[in-house]
Amino acid sequence: MNSQLAPLSASTLTERHYEMLVQAVADYAIFMLNPEGCIVSWNAGAARIKGYDATEVIGQHLSIFYSDEDRHDGKPWQLIERALRDGRSQDEGWRVRKDGSRFWALVAIEVIRNEEGVIIGLAKITRDITDRHEADMRYDALRAQLFQAQKLEALGQLSGGMAHDFNNLLTIILSAAKLASRTSNPERLASLLASIQNAGERGAQMTRNLLTFARCEQMPSRLVNLNALLDTAHTFMSQVLPKGMSLEMHYAPDLHCVELDPSQLEMALLNLILNARDAMHGTGVVRLHAENRTLAGEFDDLSGEFVLISVIDHGIGIDPAIRSRLFEPFFTTKDVGKGTGLGLSQVYGFARQAGGDVHVESVAGQGATMILCLPAAVGESAGARA
Ligand SMILES: Nc1ncnc2c1ncn2[C@@H]1O[C@H](COP(=O)(O)OP(=O)(O)OP(=O)(O)O)[C@@H](O)[C@H]1O
Ligand SMILES: [Mg+2]
Repeated sequence: MNSQLAPLSASTLTERHYEMLVQAVADYAIFMLNPEGCIVSWNAGAARIKGYDATEVIGQHLSIFYSDEDRHDGKPWQLIERALRDGRSQDEGWRVRKDGSRFWALVAIEVIRNEEGVIIGLAKITRDITDRHEADMRYDALRAQLFQAQKLEALGQLSGGMAHDFNNLLTIILSAAKLASRTSNPERLASLLASIQNAGERGAQMTRNLLTFARCEQMPSRLVNLNALLDTAHTFMSQVLPKGMSLEMHYAPDLHCVELDPSQLEMALLNLILNARDAMHGTGVVRLHAENRTLAGEFDDLSGEFVLISVIDHGIGIDPAIRSRLFEPFFTTKDVGKGTGLGLSQVYGFARQAGGDVHVESVAGQGATMILCLPAAVGESAGARA
């Protein structure tokens, strides 16, 4: 060891040592701001990431790293205001280098106080995570494509069942119309016309459901009344079960509302029901339960108010050996042409996007219960659409 160097220990660390440490960091831009947001220090990482030397930026306002649009919207000032108010603030977004190129930044700001507790400045740490951000965007685009491809496949199956249902509705309409044209009894006429209207409205609702489901764009999240959604989903979902199987649904009448894209939820439920169907080899009852539940870490560390929707089957169950791979895209144990392995990856992606999770309970040979945990939009239950 070089005897010239004084050994470093916690008690001998000086401000100068910290300064050297901060200066040496090249992967993070670490610098200080005064409470007005002007730059007072600059490290090697900041120079590398943003392309400015210390002499060019000291004294300048933080907003020089923002795009014109973000400056116009007041973003840099809002970030500082939030930090001064809450003690810290975080942000993610595009920032501009000296040469005008952009990078995706992950930003954290913390207030610094003196011994009397007075705010004397702000410490700002910025990371360039452009690579990660681009990979995330590519993954999202791929997932949206897969989701659409999978929907088209499910549509094929659904429309077979729906053609059958439409035929039933048309039979009702045609025979009621025929009877109505022959009767002279006004009460009988009114009841026949009512059943024609009713069958027509059911047909229109089915078409609406199918169109919502087939729509290409990803719908934005909105407040969804789960009771109403499940009420209309029953007919729709049971279409995919063969003759020997049925779908039983039990759900509390006062389910919390949730904030999500309802067509993705319908797709997720359909995927779970299709898996239950395949696991049961064509006979038996698939059950769907839904209830409100306050969680405190029982399911995958979730805590707070949730709605739990369980799809329960008594099929072949899930072998513990494949448990960890269930949500992987393209993981399937089904024969070629019978499964693509995308069902549960859609369910998982959707649940995570909604701020929830999917929980699996299964004993091999005795069936499986898949529990979709969705965060409740508590206090907003009235008036939400399905
Ligand atoms: N309810 C269940 N019971 C038993 N095994 C299941 C159940 N749900 C899923 N699995 C297993 O998980 C695998 C992955 O399911 P996933 O829905 O992702 O794909 P898939 O059903 O094989 O194909 P796809 O849904 O794309 O048609 C299945 O192949 C099956 O082995
Ligand atoms: Mg599946």
